[in-house]
Amino acid sequence: MKRLNSLAFALLFALAGCNPGANDKGNDTIEGKVERLLAQMTLEEKVGQMNQYNGFYDATGPAPSEGDAKNKYEHLKKGWVGSVLNVKGAQEVFEMQRVVVEESRLGIPLIFGLDVIHGQKTLAPIPLGEAASWDLEAIEKSARIAAIEATATGQNWTFAPMVDISRDARWGRVMEGAGEDPYLGAKIGVARVKGFQGDDLSANNTMAACAKHFAGYGFAEAGRDYNTVDVGTSTLYNVIFPPFEAAVSAGVKTVMNSFNILNGIPATGDRFLQREILKGKWGFQGFVVSDWGSVGEMIKHGYAKDLKEAAELAANAGSDMDMESYAYVKYLAELVREGKVSEELVDDAVRRILRLKFELGLFDDPYRYCNTEREKELLYHEDHMKGVLDVAKKSIVLLKNENNLLPLAKNQKNIALIGALASDKTSPLGSWRVSSDDNTAVSVLEGLEAYSNDFKYAKGPKLVTSEVAFHIPLTFNMTDRSGMKEAIELAKRSDIVVMVLGEHGLLSGEGRSRVNIDLPGLQQELLEEVYKVNRNIVLVLMNGRPLALPWADQHIPAIVEAWHLGTQSGNAIAQVLYGDYNPSGKLTMSFPRHVGQCPIYYNHYSTGRPDVKPEVFWSHYSDESNDPLYPFGYGLSYTTFEYDALQVNVKSNEMVEVLVNVTNTGQVEGEEVVQLYLHDKAASVVRPVKELKGFEKIFLKPAESKQVKFTLTNKELGFFNHKGEFVVEPGMFDLMVGTSSVEGLNGQFELK
Ligand code: NOJ
Repeated sequence: MKRLNSLAFALLFALAGCNPGANDKGNDTIEGKVERLLAQMTLEEKVGQMNQYNGFYDATGPAPSEGDAKNKYEHLKKGWVGSVLNVKGAQEVFEMQRVVVEESRLGIPLIFGLDVIHGQKTLAPIPLGEAASWDLEAIEKSARIAAIEATATGQNWTFAPMVDISRDARWGRVMEGAGEDPYLGAKIGVARVKGFQGDDLSANNTMAACAKHFAGYGFAEAGRDYNTVDVGTSTLYNVIFPPFEAAVSAGVKTVMNSFNILNGIPATGDRFLQREILKGKWGFQGFVVSDWGSVGEMIKHGYAKDLKEAAELAANAGSDMDMESYAYVKYLAELVREGKVSEELVDDAVRRILRLKFELGLFDDPYRYCNTEREKELLYHEDHMKGVLDVAKKSIVLLKNENNLLPLAKNQKNIALIGALASDKTSPLGSWRVSSDDNTAVSVLEGLEAYSNDFKYAKGPKLVTSEVAFHIPLTFNMTDRSGMKEAIELAKRSDIVVMVLGEHGLLSGEGRSRVNIDLPGLQQELLEEVYKVNRNIVLVLMNGRPLALPWADQHIPAIVEAWHLGTQSGNAIAQVLYGDYNPSGKLTMSFPRHVGQCPIYYNHYSTGRPDVKPEVFWSHYSDESNDPLYPFGYGLSYTTFEYDALQVNVKSNEMVEVLVNVTNTGQVEGEEVVQLYLHDKAASVVRPVKELKGFEKIFLKPAESKQVKFTLTNKELGFFNHKGEFVVEPGMFDLMVGTSSVEGLNGQFELK
């Protein structure tokens, strides 16, 4: 099968009794087509569009053929399914689409959804890593690559980007977002939406994006996934909402609600969120999909007494599509007949879903994404490898580099490479990689081989006790010390030791919260033992969340944060270690000193007692500093940058211009992320001590200077007050422009 051509489809569609996409004289707009189709639909068929099932069908038929799958198959033929998720591969998508198009009464094509989070087969870094690049172009390109590969496998809808702000490293899903800052999070979310959706959604290599999880999912109490969320108005409007609003303004086609309750109401059943804010205030024209089973989970939350009431609450609240709760397909038509849900609301939801199907071009050719030759040609394409290598390099953050231990000399002799993760070809692919193939990452071992033949490898104790398959929880090796001695011996006889330590790729992600955010298993002990025999250590970290590593920070001379960098992981790391790429990444989440500081974030409020005096009675811990180990925006380079000539010009009460000079004062070329922070000193609602309000990534040759200009407008100067109104207030502002959230030049200005 290559693909069925559009002509054949037009015929099939005409035979099926409906063809709103073709010969639509008179009312040729998408809205017109949607209305004509809607007018032909029965109530059950309308509800069917609002129903989404998990995949259950393969090229040979329903799999398994009995029970649940058989029912779902019957529903397909009745037109009771609007979308399916997790159907993988062009052939399988084709087969399932064919059933709906040929055998259901109206033949309305399905949308195929999948979690394409950081790539399909060729993987980019996990989103938290990628965010550390602060490179919007590279991030957009990475989403573009993901879309090209995913659409080649039949998909036309990704459940990404996750734009939840996250402040708590214990939460496993911090790996899927852009970190703790709403301004940066919004920019990155928009870049990802653009990358997935492109300029023309009807092209066969673009797909609908989904901003998730609306809202507050990243604020789970104590970092435990799915846990309760209770936040005030200021945080909701100023921190949680902005990336969603930005995604909506950028034209994101869908939004996913979330598992959590927010201030006492499950997000899935929250009218305020979905109808008032999203579809009301922001004018969102796309549709809202529930999270997996989240309609049904409202029963366990204690909000709905049964599944029927859950369907009623969710539909009335504005949740347009039910993912795998079976609530709408079972009860929604009945609820409409009973007058508990109005048919107008159902029509509104169906319009939104059909609109997207038209925009995707599915009515012109429902098989446009099903071309097995294209699939073969594009997966793991050479251009994609180059693209993910580029963003992987840019995602690496240099945390420490005492005495310029890095970069390694190209002729460096006698290197020891130590750590189970160093040779791992699966873990660097990271979490959330539903379609990728194990063992496809370039390992650090392989990356170094391209540079040197004078290194030896010792694995050290293994990290996990069993081979890991996707979704199988990990068991960490806490006791088996075999490999420890060999690693220490190797370190002893080497000149320099590169240690690759951290979290296995599946230790972060959904359902993977931790109370210890240290090096799991025997790795800390390995690090300390190696340090006893050789202090020339370069520590390469692989992790899906900020880790608390105060000992390493105190003792290890060079530390490189390498996240889970995806398919080209080892090559990216080797290029940084050998200085072929000068690291330019900056953290987008604060790294705590101790897990007890979580949630920790730079843009916090001031207490009434921030000062060290009086000695005891100020806001602090008795046994740890308040400061993070590595702050937001922090990251070193192999060169140095100097900031000077800060100018602040208040042009009007709605416009402030800020200028600064940045000079590369070191020996090598490099990139710097110039960051601008504001603090509104006294306002009707207390403002954070600092907020990022501008950044620019610049490239400078040695001795080169550039003037960077920021223009602050209403948008950056204002905030949402306790009524959710956006206001710009007169008064004094502190300003800082610099290299991280804690280091820069300070200025002030006043708005009259
Ligand atoms: C649950 C996750 O919370 C959501 O992000 C994901 O898109 C769905 N499952 C579908 O896999």
